[in-house]
Amino acid sequence: MMLREQKAKAVEKILKRYPDRRSAIIPLLWLVQRTAGYVTPDGITEVAEITGVTLTQVQEIVSFYTMFHQKPVGRYLISVCDNISCSLLGAEQLVEHLEGRLGIRAGETTANGLFSLQTVECLGACNMAPVMIINETLYPNLTTEKIDQILKNCT
Ligand code: FES
Repeated sequence: MMLREQKAKAVEKILKRYPDRRSAIIPLLWLVQRTAGYVTPDGITEVAEITGVTLTQVQEIVSFYTMFHQKPVGRYLISVCDNISCSLLGAEQLVEHLEGRLGIRAGETTANGLFSLQTVECLGACNMAPVMIINETLYPNLTTEKIDQILKNCT
């Protein structure tokens, strides 16, 4: 009941923006994620109830978009693009470098809860490949040296 109890005003505001409640699914999921840190099972249930769709329909949306997390993520979520342009320019080595530096594999979170690492589809910045996003900041033209510097600034 997190949304309707704690975020009633925000929910109302989102619903007002859309004549069809189903269009509010993604903004409501964002609200769940911003509030709880990830998209909780309860949040999925609430979004389904509020928008009048089935649980499965909401779950499908959550699993389709990599921006939605179904488990808690670290304070810094590192998303490395491993699509074609970035891959040709060494994305795999960058991921390996990050895995080595953080001591985790892609898809995992460090034990101290500081970093999560994932690979994602094209971020629409192929002309700046290879790229990664940390939370909402894009880092272009990456090298392992640049990554070391960026990680230093994160801690
Ligand atoms: S392939 Fe990496 S940003 Fe497009």
